[in-house]
Amino acid sequence: MTLINVTVDGVEYQDEVEPRMLLVYYLRERLGKTGTVVGCDTSNCGACTVHLDGHSVKSCNVLAVQADGAEIGTIEGLAQNGELHPMQKAFHENHALQCGYCTPGMIMQSIDLLNDNPDPTEQEIREGLEGNLCRCTGYHNIVKAVQAAAGGAK
Ligand code: FES
Ligand code: FES
Repeated sequence: MTLINVTVDGVEYQDEVEPRMLLVYYLRERLGKTGTVVGCDTSNCGACTVHLDGHSVKSCNVLAVQADGAEIGTIEGLAQNGELHPMQKAFHENHALQCGYCTPGMIMQSIDLLNDNPDPTEQEIREGLEGNLCRCTGYHNIVKAVQAAAGGAK
């Protein structure tokens, strides 16, 4: 077992973990952060996307021990004082989800995308989300939501 210190959604945790434990299972099973979901376990779908020191990562592709000392942000930490994050609002207002399974990862990835490029073209949004798969809504409304969060269609 290895001792790790992490900050998740603003709260500090210290835990013993097995060196092979994936970050996504640490978040879900140890911390109960089940808002971060597992779609494939093979780093294909992006459903498990979280922020690690401010940048999006697929948490099924990171070991919990690799997050030692890091700040992790999950979908559960986005809303503040009962107010949805602007990206969450944009997804809601643009009907950018159907079953919602891909949504936590899509939102975390979209926030990272706008942090890197606050004024993306439609093509840049599509490229920025190419690691995140949606099996039901299709991507049209997801792209519209990111455009809305960025301040309007480009
Ligand atoms: S569960 Fe991590 S990429 Fe699919
Ligand atoms: S809304 Fe169902 S997988 Fe994207």
